[in-house]
Amino acid sequence: MLAEYSQERGFTTRPFLSPPMQLVHRDLSAWMNGVVGMRAHIDPAGNIHGFYPGSSTDTPRLFIGSHLDTVPHAGAFDGILGVVLGVALLEMLNGERFPFSIELVGFSDEEGVRFGVPFIGSRAFAGTFDEDLLATLDRDGMSIADAIKAYGLDPEALAGAVVDGPAVGYIEFHIEQGPVLEALDLPLGVVDAIVGQTRVEVTFNGSAGHAGTTPMPARRDALAGAAEWIGAVEREARCTPGLVATVGCIKAVPGASNVIPGACATTLDVRHARDEVRAAAAARLAERAHEIAARRGLEFVWAPRLEQPAVSMDLSLVGALERAVRLAGAPVYRLSSGAGHDAMIVAARMPAAMLFLRSPGGISHHPDEAVLEHDVAVALETGRHVLHELVRDWS
Ligand code: GLV
Ligand code: MN
Ligand code: MN
Repeated sequence: MLAEYSQERGFTTRPFLSPPMQLVHRDLSAWMNGVVGMRAHIDPAGNIHGFYPGSSTDTPRLFIGSHLDTVPHAGAFDGILGVVLGVALLEMLNGERFPFSIELVGFSDEEGVRFGVPFIGSRAFAGTFDEDLLATLDRDGMSIADAIKAYGLDPEALAGAVVDGPAVGYIEFHIEQGPVLEALDLPLGVVDAIVGQTRVEVTFNGSAGHAGTTPMPARRDALAGAAEWIGAVEREARCTPGLVATVGCIKAVPGASNVIPGACATTLDVRHARDEVRAAAAARLAERAHEIAARRGLEFVWAPRLEQPAVSMDLSLVGALERAVRLAGAPVYRLSSGAGHDAMIVAARMPAAMLFLRSPGGISHHPDEAVLEHDVAVALETGRHVLHELVRDWS
C-alpha cells in the first residue's frame, strides 16, 4: 500500500521530499497518533518522528528508525520496512512503558537519488549535515533549500532537526539486500559493521557536432570518453578483492542519435570494507579519467558527493540484539553490510546497531524485493525482547 505512493505509476519511486512523501507522512502520522500515548511530528529536514513516552518524564530516548525515500523503480521494503516495523512494535506493546522513551524516526533521505547527496535526513538528525549543501540542485534546477520550502518546511530551521538530550541508542531494522542470510537459511542477522562508500559525479566535456560530417579524428566525443572510463571502473573493481564500483547513471548531452555528445555526466559509487583500499581505488579512477580525457581532448569535472568511512556498530547494542534474537528463538548470526544505512550516520551521535531480515533471492533496489512474513514476526519478537534487554542494561 505505502509502496504505491510513488511519483511514477506502476513503480515505487519516491525521492527526498517528492509529493508522494506527503502521503506516506499522512498515513504514518495517523498510525503513530493511534498508538497509545504516541505523538507524531515532521522536523525541518522532513524526517517524521513518533514519540512514545517512557515511564517518567526526562527519560533518555531510544531511537528506532530507517528511511522512507527510495531509489527509482524500488522494491517495497528497503527503508520503510524498518519504520513500519517500529510502529507495529510499539503498537504491540499495548501501552507498556520503559525507563526510556522510544522515538521512531522515518528519515527523509538516505538514497541520495534526487540531489546526488545521500543521507540528508539522517545527517540533519545527527548534526553532520553541511548547510552549504542546501544550494545543491536537482535535475530540475531546484535546490535542497527550495525543496524543503516547497514541502512546507523551513530550511532556515534545519538546526531544529538535530537530535538533543541523552540517548540510549539507535536501532535500525532493515532487509539484508543481499544473499547471505538466505544461503544460511537464517531469518535474521545482527550487523557488526557497515562498509564505507565514495560517491562522485564525473562529467566529461567535449564538443558536440554533426554525426554524419565530422571525421573521426576531429571529434571530441564526451560519451566515447566516458565509455572508455566506465570500462576502467569495472576492471578496477574486478581486479581488487572485495571492491565494488558502479557507474549507475549516465546522461549524454544533447542526446540525439545524429549529434556527437558534447557532454556526458556520470555517477561513480565505490565501496570496500577497508577505507584505505576504497580511497586508493577512487584515486586510481580519478587518474584514469584524467588520462582518458587528456588523450581525447576532453575536460573532465570530478565532483565528490560523499566520502563516508566504514563504521562499526556499537558492541553493547549488538550484544543486546544478539540476546534478543536468541530469546526470539532464532539462531544468532553476525554479518557486515555492503549497503549504506542511516545507522552509519547516526553512529556519530549515539550507539547504533542494526538487525537485518533475510532478503529472498538477495534481491534489492528492484521491484521484486521481498521479505517473508515469518521473518517479520521473528524480527518483531526480537524487537520486543531487545527493549527488555535494554531495560536491564539501563536499570
Ligand atoms: C543504499 O541503499 C545504498 O547502499 O546505496
Ligand atoms: Mn537503498
Ligand atoms: Mn535502505
